[in-house]
Amino acid sequence: MKNNEEILQFAINASQRAYCVYSEFPVGACALYESGNEYIGCNVENSSYGLSLCAERNAMSSAVAAGEKSKLIKIAIYSPKNALCFPCGACRQWIREFSGGYNTEIVLQDKNGEIKTYYIDEILPYPFEIL
Ligand code: THU
Repeated sequence: MKNNEEILQFAINASQRAYCVYSEFPVGACALYESGNEYIGCNVENSSYGLSLCAERNAMSSAVAAGEKSKLIKIAIYSPKNALCFPCGACRQWIREFSGGYNTEIVLQDKNGEIKTYYIDEILPYPFEIL
């Protein structure tokens, strides 16, 4: 099972492959599942700006496409432009979707290069869910 430093490094590497010609704001993500599998993603923009895809949702979509069925236990997110690059609201809801009741850990890097972790329950309280 990869540790926080390792998944953050995957997110850093993925950010270097971002397609962000409009915003020039690269983001990389690495989603780690209970199975031990991890999936990376970067943001992919479009000239029709609203169609742009976030790095986190790209990583979680790759997991679905690969047949991943276990819980999302951690997700590392990195942008060279933002220390503590928190996920947007839409990505928070997506993280909740794949948490499977687990309190998924959000792994970020601060301005000093230190790892800081947060939990989906604290950054998305009262999520939408179909009961
Ligand atoms: N972006 C992400 O990849 N993840 C987020 O959680 C927020 C924003 C991307 C979308 C867009 O390509 C760029 O960052 C600027 O908003």
